[in-house]
Amino acid sequence: MGNTLPERLADQLGRVDSVGVITGAGVSAESGIPTYRGKGGIYDDPDEGDRTVEALTGTTLKIDPDRTWRAVGELARSAVQARPNPAHHAIVEMERKANSFVLLTQNVDGLHQAAGSRNVIDIHGNIFETRCMDCAARETLSRERIAGIRQAPRCAACGGPLRPDAVLFGEMLPAGKVARLRSELEQRIPDLVVVAGTSALFPYIAAPVFHAARAGHLTIEVNPEPTYLSEAVGHFVQGPAGEILPQIAAALPGA
Ligand code: OAD
Repeated sequence: MGNTLPERLADQLGRVDSVGVITGAGVSAESGIPTYRGKGGIYDDPDEGDRTVEALTGTTLKIDPDRTWRAVGELARSAVQARPNPAHHAIVEMERKANSFVLLTQNVDGLHQAAGSRNVIDIHGNIFETRCMDCAARETLSRERIAGIRQAPRCAACGGPLRPDAVLFGEMLPAGKVARLRSELEQRIPDLVVVAGTSALFPYIAAPVFHAARAGHLTIEVNPEPTYLSEAVGHFVQGPAGEILPQIAAALPGA
């Protein structure tokens, strides 16, 4: 492994009891799924990137659901064959070792759950799950069908249009998940808060990190590039999540 954690940080990790982890697209990068922003990201192309964002809005879903589904199918194609990488597995190990654990993820690829993470707040939902826009029934279509989709699928129960069970641009976050985030990461601040693979542009993602840092809890950011959180956290560890998160997990107490 190229990076090793500073000794002082490894000592601090050895005293941690409760852990909160916050992840973004960078954690799935080593599974071959492109990130959204930055070089090679889904929004990187000046024309296509903007068109993708427009297709992935709640407004487009209402007026042209087929267009939204084509964009979702595109995202799903990059994720359908992907498997969890060492970063996902390290987060599972953190949950196994901690006495209390929560994972807040923005990722819609379901890889944390596939790796075995249990207490997950997938605040942006999952593009491989659907719900009916008319009767709200949830329906599971095969991952391959979603990856190949060209038009909005129909609900088996009522024939209404299905939508992806994911938060689109301009839509409200699910209230229940926001309440869990507040309670499990902000009202009860974990001893250790790790934020990995995210540009942390959304305030509800950055806020728990600032909260924990202000309260004097141990905070670590893992990212190959600095972000605006890097100065706020106790430790910015520069590098890929698949290399650094296993080292953090290994340094936690417990077998
Ligand atoms: P971004 O694409 O904005 O940021 C990805 C971050 O991952 C960047 O800071 C990269 O430097 C970092 N990164 C790249 N490779 C990495 C690696 N191997 N290990 C660790 N970090 C790496 O993705 P998010 O922050 O997740 O929203 O974006 C947030 C939200 O914006 C997404 O959930 C999506 C998007 O619009 C919705 O779909 C609602």
